[in-house]
Amino acid sequence: MTFELTELSLAEKAALGSGQDFWTTKAVGPVPSLVLTDGPHGVRRQAGATDHLGLAGSLPATCFPPAVGLGQSWDAELVRRVGVALGRESRNLGVDVLLGPGINIKRDPRCGRNFEYYSEDPVLTGVLGAAWVQGLQSTGVGASLKHFAANNTEHDRMRSSSDIDPRPLREIYLRAFAHIVRTAEPWTVMCSYNRINGVPAAENRWLLTELLREEWGYQGLVVSDWGAVSDRVAAVAAGLDLQMPSSGSASDDAVVAAVRAGTLDPAVVDRAAERVAALAAKAVAGRADVEPHDAPEHHALAREVAAQCIVLLRNDGGLLPLSPSRSIAVIGEFAESPRYQGGGSSHVNPTRVDTPLAEIRALATGTVTYAQGFTTDGSPAGALSEEAVRAAAQAEVAVLFLGLAASQESEGFDRDHIELPAGQLALLTEVLAVQPDTVVVLAHGGVLRLAPIGAPAILDGALLGQAGGGAIADVLFGAVNPSGRLTETVPVRIQDTPAYLNFPGENSHVRYGEGLFVGYRWYDARELEVGYPFGHGLSYTSFEYSDLAVDSASADLTVSVTITNTGDRAGREVVQCYTAKPDSTVVRPPRELKGFRGVYLEPGAGERVRITIRREDLAYWETRTDQWIVEDGDYEVSVGASSRDLRCVAKVSVSGDQVRLPLSLESTLGEIMTDPNAGPVLEFLAGNAPAGMAADGGDALGLDLARMMASVPLGKLVAFGAGSLAELEQVIAKVNGPS
Ligand code: BGC
Repeated sequence: MTFELTELSLAEKAALGSGQDFWTTKAVGPVPSLVLTDGPHGVRRQAGATDHLGLAGSLPATCFPPAVGLGQSWDAELVRRVGVALGRESRNLGVDVLLGPGINIKRDPRCGRNFEYYSEDPVLTGVLGAAWVQGLQSTGVGASLKHFAANNTEHDRMRSSSDIDPRPLREIYLRAFAHIVRTAEPWTVMCSYNRINGVPAAENRWLLTELLREEWGYQGLVVSDWGAVSDRVAAVAAGLDLQMPSSGSASDDAVVAAVRAGTLDPAVVDRAAERVAALAAKAVAGRADVEPHDAPEHHALAREVAAQCIVLLRNDGGLLPLSPSRSIAVIGEFAESPRYQGGGSSHVNPTRVDTPLAEIRALATGTVTYAQGFTTDGSPAGALSEEAVRAAAQAEVAVLFLGLAASQESEGFDRDHIELPAGQLALLTEVLAVQPDTVVVLAHGGVLRLAPIGAPAILDGALLGQAGGGAIADVLFGAVNPSGRLTETVPVRIQDTPAYLNFPGENSHVRYGEGLFVGYRWYDARELEVGYPFGHGLSYTSFEYSDLAVDSASADLTVSVTITNTGDRAGREVVQCYTAKPDSTVVRPPRELKGFRGVYLEPGAGERVRITIRREDLAYWETRTDQWIVEDGDYEVSVGASSRDLRCVAKVSVSGDQVRLPLSLESTLGEIMTDPNAGPVLEFLAGNAPAGMAADGGDALGLDLARMMASVPLGKLVAFGAGSLAELEQVIAKVNGPS
C-alpha cells in the first residue's frame, strides 16, 4: 500500500510533518492520522488528559520489566517475546507506533533515566534492542529507537551539549543505534533533546542525514522527542520528518514560508511528507489483523520474564533457595507496595500488581510474618523497626526488601548519589544482629552502592514490572533458578565511577572526558576493585567451561566452548565472550564484550555453545581517516561467567583491513619508521641525515636518539638540514602514489 502525495499542496505536505495533538499525526489528503505513544515497557495509551511525564492516567496495560530489569535477562529471545506482547497490546489499544526502545548508554549511575536503558555496554544494548524492535514490529506496530543520540543525563537535557570525541561517540554511544537500524529497521527513530558537540540533535544534519541515512542506509522516519524542535525549518533541512507533539500550525507555516523564500529546498519537504505517508502505509497494513490479547496470559509472561531478570548477587553458605517450610519474616514496605517501574513518560497503568508478600505467602508452607520496618516517604520509622527486628529474631529466616522510592529517582532529574536511604541500612544492621540468615531483595532503577549490605544473600530485582512479586517468590524458593546478570558495574564508591568529575556537566556542556572508558572498560583499565562486576550473577547450580575454540575461517569469528552443569539443579548459564587486542596501535579498553549466549542445562548435562563475534564489532573508529578499521594480528578471546570471571582464553589471528594512511610533512619520524611503505622516505633521510643525528649519534651519550626523534614531523627536519621541503614533498608524493 502507498499513499500518493502528488495532489497535495506545499502547505498540506508541510502539515503532514507535525502532530495534530499530543499523540496523533494529522490526517491530510489520503494519509490517515496515526497514534504514537509511550513505551517502552508497557503501552501508555491516554484516553483523557495527555502529558509526557506520566502524570495523567492511561488505559490499563501490562507493565513488563523496564529495560533495567529486562536487560538483566541477557536473553534476546525473551526480549523479542516481550516485544511481540507489547505489539499485540498496542494494536488492541489502537496504537501504531510504540515509543521505544530507549537504548542510550548508561554512562553514569546517577542518570535518572537509566532504568529505561539496557546497559553500559553497546553490544549488549544493540542485541537486546534489536530483538525488542523485531518482536514489536512483527505485529505490525512500529518502534521508535530513542533517544538519538548521546542523551545520557536528565539534568538540563533540553539544552545541554554532549561534548564527545569521535571514537567514544562511534564506538560507545552510536554503536547500538547503528546495529539496530541495520538489523531491525525500526519504523521510526526519535531524535533527542540535547545537543551533540554543540548542535541540537533535531537540527543536526550530520546525525540525521549523513550518518543515519547516507552511512547506515536508514529508510524510516525521524520523529522529534516531544518538544525537541525549536526551529522546524532548520530541523527539516537537517533531516527531521515529523515534529511532535502539535505546534499548532505555526511551524507548518514557517516551513511553507521558507520554501517560498527560497531558503528551504522543497524537495526536502516532499521527502519528509513521503516518509510520513510511508509510515502511515505500514501502520494501516498492520491494523488489518488485530487479535485480542489475553491479559492474564500477558501477566503470566511478565512473571516468567521478571524471574529471568533477577540477579543473584550473593549467596553465602547456600542460604538460597529457601525451603518453603521455614518460618519467614518478610520485612520492608516494598514487600507490600512494590517498586516495579520508573517515573516519567514510560509510566504504565498496570493491569494488576502482584506483591512479593502475597506471592511468598502463596508458595510458603511455614509461617510468614510481615513487618513494614521503615517508611519510604521519609517519615520517622518509630516503632516500625523494633517490630521488624522482633519478627526477624522469631523467624528462621528474614527476607528484607530494600530500595529506592519513586520520589528518589525518575525521568527529568539525576540523582546526587547512589546510596540507599540511611534508615533502611540501619534497619538491616539491626536485623542482621538478630538474624544472620537474612536475604536482601533490592528494588531500584539506578545502580546502588552495595558495600554496606552485609547480608549473606542478595537478590537484585532492579525494576521487575507488575508481576515481579511472583517472580521474586519463584526465585526465593527455587521454583526458578536465577540466571540474570548485571548489565552495569556496581562500583565500590561513587568517586570511582568513570564520569565522576564530568557529571552532570556545567553551563550546559557535558564533557565526556572518560572517552571510551565507560562502565567496566574504565574499572578494568584503572584496575579498580568493584562491588560487583559487569556480567555478574550467581546460580543455584554451577557450570564448568572447557575446550574453547575460535574459528576464523570466515569474516566473523565463531567461538565455541563446552558448558557443563556440574551442580544438582537445572539452570541457565549466560556465556559471555570478550576480546582484547593487547598490542593495538590505538588506545583500547583491556577487554570488551562481543557476544553472549544463554544455555539451559539439566544437572550433569553439557553442550557446545557457539557465539558469533561479528567482524564489525572488532573494529575501532580511525579518526585520521574517518573509517572503521579491523586491526591485523592476534586478538585474545575470553569466555566466562562475568567480565571478571573469565574461565578460558584463546588467541586468534585476524586478517585486518588494509588501510593506508597517506604520509605528509606532518607525519612523524615514528610513524614513518612503522609504515611498511615508507622506504623511499627513509632512504631520502639516510642520504640527507642532519649532522649529529645519524642513527647511532646518541650512543656516546647513552641517549635513545630514535625515540627522542620519533615525535618530530618530517617537515620540521628541513630546519635541521634534511634536504629541502620541495624534495621531501616529492618523495612523499611518490610514496603516496597517485591520489
Ligand atoms: C521523553 C520520550 C517520550 C516522550 C513522549 C519525552 O519527554 O523523553 O522518551 O517518548 O516524552 O512522552
